[in-house]
Amino acid sequence: MSNLEQQLVELRQTTLEQLKEIQHQGEKELQDLRVAVLGKKGSLTDLLKGLKDLSNDMKPIVGKQVNEVRDVLTAAFEETAQKVAAAKIQQQLASETIDVTLPGRQVKVGKRHVLTQTSEEIEDIFLGMGFQIVDGFEVEKDYYNFERMNLPKDHPARDMQDTFYITEEILMRTHTSPVQARTMDQHDFSKGALKMISPGRVFRRDTDDATHSHQFHQIEGLVVGENVSMGDLKGTLEMIIKKMFGEERQIRLRPSYFPFTEPSVEVDVSCFKCGGDGCNVCKKTGWIEILGAGMVHPQVLEMSGIDSTKYSGFAFGLGQERIAMLRYGINDIRGFYQGDVRFSEQF
Ligand code: PHE
Repeated sequence: MSNLEQQLVELRQTTLEQLKEIQHQGEKELQDLRVAVLGKKGSLTDLLKGLKDLSNDMKPIVGKQVNEVRDVLTAAFEETAQKVAAAKIQQQLASETIDVTLPGRQVKVGKRHVLTQTSEEIEDIFLGMGFQIVDGFEVEKDYYNFERMNLPKDHPARDMQDTFYITEEILMRTHTSPVQARTMDQHDFSKGALKMISPGRVFRRDTDDATHSHQFHQIEGLVVGENVSMGDLKGTLEMIIKKMFGEERQIRLRPSYFPFTEPSVEVDVSCFKCGGDGCNVCKKTGWIEILGAGMVHPQVLEMSGIDSTKYSGFAFGLGQERIAMLRYGINDIRGFYQGDVRFSEQF
């Protein structure tokens, strides 16, 4: 046996013995040994260098032996690696105690925001009456927000809704009413009356306090068709308010002014706390103001190309925050927007 063959046998022998030892040690030791034996600069590579000094007869024979040793050792390393890994798991299992009787950790489940809940509840009621739900733009044209709502440039009533302008012609909408004009423009009256609501966020240049916010949420309502009357408006509002505040509630319409409705009304609901006797919620009046509404101004219909001698309509705009505040006795509007779970989880 040549010297080289002798060394090969020894390398194989000692490595297999070392592997047996390492089985009881760790992954790091195993890796070190693998590099030392099979690595690029390892013992086996060293031995290979001796091949060139052998006779041509011997070269293929010893070369084959080198390959054999490499295969045997590679497999042995693999096997040991598995044993080491298994031993590690065994060790962990032995040292870990799992108390299966411990109570589980509670996962906090989120829920929809109270304003979303309010809006979805109202949407459901109107969907049930065949209304469509329309989305509007929060960034709107002055044209739709004001002009098409019968508020031409320099109209004094624009001051009621001072707003944020992006440019002279583009602004943050001050109410959901521009959706009225956009929807009327699209509606095909040969297919029947237009009945829609449009919930969404609106913006006004306002100083934030307990009851004011520079952004809040409204739900616009609009019905246009033949023979739509003030009675339809009152009936619709009475229905929605009873659903939201209780069957015993009554409503009252007071004359008011909006440039886009004529006549215009302010709608009050009989106080749900005192039932009308007078208390702190209704400021001793027995009534709580809840929304603005009216019959769509003929001018507004005509601007959408709707014949105001044939068609009429009613519209209303209600504040989502106001409804939620009244229903749940929330006394600071800022709670809606602060994202404090202690507020949100109450509803
Ligand atoms: N857009 C009005 C507001 O924001 C509310 C309203 C809507 C009044 C529709 C009448 C008809 O104050």
